[in-house]
Amino acid sequence: MALSAPASVKTFLCFTLWALLISPAVSLTCSGQKFTKNQVFSTCLDLPSLSSFFHFSYDSSNTTLSVAFIAAPSKPGGWVAWAINPKATGMAGSQALVAYKNSTTGLAVVRTFDISSYSSIVAKDLSFEVWDKTAESRSDGSLAIFAKIKIPADLASNGEINQVWQIGPGVGADGTLVKHEFAVANLQSKGTLDLKNGHTSSSSGVDTRTKNKNIHGILNAVSWGILFPVGAIIARYIRAFESADPAWFYLHVFCQISAYAIGVAGWGTGLKLGNQSSGITYSSHRNIGITLFVLATVQVFALFLRPNKEHKYRFYWNIYHHSFGYAIVVLGIVNVFKGFNILRPDYKWKSAYTNTIISLGAISLLLEAVTWVVVLKRRSEISKKPHDGKQ
Ligand SMILES: *[C@@H]1O[C@H](CO)[C@@H](O)[C@H](O)[C@H]1NC(C)=O
Ligand SMILES: *[C@@H]1O[C@H](CO)[C@@H](O)[C@H](O)[C@H]1NC(C)=O
Repeated sequence: MALSAPASVKTFLCFTLWALLISPAVSLTCSGQKFTKNQVFSTCLDLPSLSSFFHFSYDSSNTTLSVAFIAAPSKPGGWVAWAINPKATGMAGSQALVAYKNSTTGLAVVRTFDISSYSSIVAKDLSFEVWDKTAESRSDGSLAIFAKIKIPADLASNGEINQVWQIGPGVGADGTLVKHEFAVANLQSKGTLDLKNGHTSSSSGVDTRTKNKNIHGILNAVSWGILFPVGAIIARYIRAFESADPAWFYLHVFCQISAYAIGVAGWGTGLKLGNQSSGITYSSHRNIGITLFVLATVQVFALFLRPNKEHKYRFYWNIYHHSFGYAIVVLGIVNVFKGFNILRPDYKWKSAYTNTIISLGAISLLLEAVTWVVVLKRRSEISKKPHDGKQ
């Protein structure tokens, strides 16, 4: 029984660590930023992702938007981009201003790109009038894009525009942009810009889809990734102690039923995310998820079909129950790591989870040794008193 303490402490720690994942990151603010040419803007925004900043003034009498966008490329020699998407909310269809440092001249330059689709990024004039385009490379390694934009009448009458921003790792010698990463921060770098009141809709931090992905990650990492293995450890090792019978059994059932309940919730969020993401399918993550759900459901129902200890089928039931159980533990951990590679949270979350699994593995090894000692000792005691050999 005493052995359940480290496991519950672990579980608690992991809950805490994962809860921190959804707390928004602290960022520097735009309000102190100055420009070398003394440009002044009426409003500035700390954009919610990619540590980017946006300064602007809007003159509604002639629908002129004057902007400055500041961000650091993801690698030195990379690019930064700010775009208006006149028709949709994402990257496809956006009209982009891109800045990078020309490696030959060392000067920051601005170019315009028409991003008609993800595969077609063409250097081209924009669909609306843009002038006074300049770029500046700043002392902290970031780049600033300046421009004045004539907002088309239909967008101006809405009072808001869809903005998209991005950072990339490099620029080819011919001026082609090296693809940006597809981490969560690169996918949530968009929002609507309220021209009159000067705020961006996603300024609260994380959009709903990202929040759903984080919830999906937390529920599944806690259930399939931590509680199921802990429940298996309880079943395998704690019952070796005679004094822990039948408490280990209830603890095991409690642990696995709660893991199953949380896991099913997490599984449901996964299906929903899968349905929402047309075009991108993470098929192995999805198939392992479905397999896990089936195996775990069979395990839960098999609890009710469990033959009693003396029954001749109990032997076969044990084989099935253990093999399904180990399969769930292994597939669960594998799928949590697959999930990390898809969601790509900060590296510390992956390493926190890895450390948890390593600790659970170390605890299991230790308990395995202790169990052998206990079992061998018990056997030798039994052989000393053969008339009392009933287990
Ligand atoms: C709009 O008005 C501002 C001053 O309020 C001026 O600087 C800008 O050039 C005007 N834009 C156009 C397109 O006329
Ligand atoms: C950098 O500047 C040189 C000289 O103006 C020009 O020939 C070259 O195309 C530029 N390279 C890029 C990637 O813009």
